Amino acid sequence: MIDFTGTPKIETERLILRKFEMTDVQCAFDHWLSDERVADNRVNPAHKSVLQTIKRISKIVTQYESKEFCYWAIELKETGELIGEIDLYDFDSATDNCEVSYSLGHRWWNQGYGTETLRAVVEFGFRTMNIHKISAAHNTDNPASGKIMRKVGMEQEGVIRHMIRNSKNHYKDCAVYGILREDYLEHQITSQSC
Ligand SMILES: CC(C)(COP(=O)(O)OP(=O)(O)OC[C@H]1O[C@@H](n2cnc3c(N)ncnc32)[C@H](O)[C@@H]1OP(=O)(O)O)[C@@H](O)C(=O)NCCC(=O)NCCS
Repeated sequence: MIDFTGTPKIETERLILRKFEMTDVQCAFDHWLSDERVADNRVNPAHKSVLQTIKRISKIVTQYESKEFCYWAIELKETGELIGEIDLYDFDSATDNCEVSYSLGHRWWNQGYGTETLRAVVEFGFRTMNIHKISAAHNTDNPASGKIMRKVGMEQEGVIRHMIRNSKNHYKDCAVYGILREDYLEHQITSQSC
């Protein structure tokens, strides 16, 4: 069974993962939600107005009332800047499996923050929440996302053709990845004993 603990604060070397607050709206809009370069790799279109971001963040904030809601804002320790988001979702009580998704503002790409964030959430999902399997999918024309999945130990399980149709009406092939708790823990033990 999954042990839900809501969205607790998680610290990594350079980042703080924490709950969103309404005061994050403008930064979330400016840093990633209004950016086509980010939206092109996601299902939802870029926000055209900050009102859309207000709606989205207030929906997130309301859901923190549930222990089963895991949605983190990503903050840089050094500057306090809000740089992105990551969430665990689609929890399936029949299997104890779930999905992960994430986005970072373009200014912060390729500096290892995506890997650092995903690694922390996978660790939290397996060690604290007792999730059985974490899965994710990325558009095949977004290799950076697949790279961070592999770096945290996720394995590609296949490619699904035309898995999504994005907001620009383009069908996208997606690579699906997954990692099992048992494989993750075994790999941790093996790498510690080396
Ligand atoms: C996917 C995303 C979170 C990655 O975050 P990030 O902080 O840039 O990731 P990292 O810096 O930790 O790692 C990126 C890796 O991809 C590699 N990479 C970047 N662009 C690449 C490309 N076009 N082809 C192959 N590899 C690429 C980088 O070299 C790096 O690998 P390395 O550490 O071995 O050098 C970020 O690009 C993002 O937010 N994209 C938009 C939203 C999105 O795609 N969300 C995921 C939907 S599935």
